[in-house]
Amino acid sequence: MLYDNHGREINYMRLAVTDRCNLRCHYCMPEEGINYVPRASLMTYEEMVRIVSVFSKEGISKIRITGGEPFLRKDMMSFLKEISILPDLKKIHITSNGTLLIDKIDDLRRMGITSINLSLDTLDRERFFKITRRDDFQKVMDCLDALLDAKFEVKINMVVLSQENTDDIIPMVELAKNKNIAVRFIEEMPFNGTEGKGNDAYWSHIQILEKIKSKYPSAQKLIDPKYSTSSNYKIDNFKGSFGIIAAYSRTFCGSCNRIRMTPQGLIKTCLYDNGVFNVRDLIRAGATDEQLTAALKSALGHRAKDGFEAEHKRFQFPVSESMATIGG
Ligand code: 5AD
Ligand code: SF4
Repeated sequence: MLYDNHGREINYMRLAVTDRCNLRCHYCMPEEGINYVPRASLMTYEEMVRIVSVFSKEGISKIRITGGEPFLRKDMMSFLKEISILPDLKKIHITSNGTLLIDKIDDLRRMGITSINLSLDTLDRERFFKITRRDDFQKVMDCLDALLDAKFEVKINMVVLSQENTDDIIPMVELAKNKNIAVRFIEEMPFNGTEGKGNDAYWSHIQILEKIKSKYPSAQKLIDPKYSTSSNYKIDNFKGSFGIIAAYSRTFCGSCNRIRMTPQGLIKTCLYDNGVFNVRDLIRAGATDEQLTAALKSALGHRAKDGFEAEHKRFQFPVSESMATIGG
């Protein structure tokens, strides 16, 4: 098992397989996109399979595939197939915008991948277009229904954007009335690929909960799963549930069990850090499996205690990264 210098168990890695995306959610990237990583700088599939294999033997038992939009990466399905048979990797989850995956549902199920998080910030087509700059709302809704029909475990990630989609909070909660989904409201973070635009007016987890409680005062706090970043609730007679992720307030760092890998192989031990070492460079310099493990353990020995400390230690201010590079 892997532990950090604060005694936290580390068993979860988020793997951003590409920084490219077919949507342009403005809280994530500018209209023209970000400066995408050149292909030669990306981790190859072989390199990613090796990292997942080596780290899973040490204690990383869950992987979340993210991006950018993971299904934009060519050969994604064969990559998933390869990691799905690694003996020490217990869970593979995927976060996707839901525009490119409907025809892959059966194959995913065959690999044993049945947990998908869909990013969806509104239930209104025009508002979807305003937020994502693409007219793909119906595609995402069709994908959601197809996933539910196929009995996938589905979560919806809605980034709460002040003055933009706060009117969607209640309808989104109500989506869980008849559907077995977990809707999660995420505080907006400043990772939008442009410097300077902070989010001083962001909606905090407290405001989000107040809004929901004003309509559903009987919403009951659930016992959160271990390591959960969301604080979860249930409303009487609703099939699904809702949760709130204090991504900007950072209330959950004390139990953080995760590391991240960017598409270029940079390992981050916190969403808010600058990256602590690069596995792609180590692999291309001929590192052995033992050396890769040693690099990981060394990084875990210097982990910031929370996202505020990690942010404070960054050498790059203000934050100008896109979430598409960090992997959410
Ligand atoms: N703030 C909060 N969440 C974000 N995401 C992308 N950019 C931001 C941001 N600036 C979310 C996406 C996706 C998840 C991986 O991260 O909506 O659901
Ligand atoms: Fe694409 Fe997700 Fe970023 Fe939207 S938030 S542009 S879907 S990577």
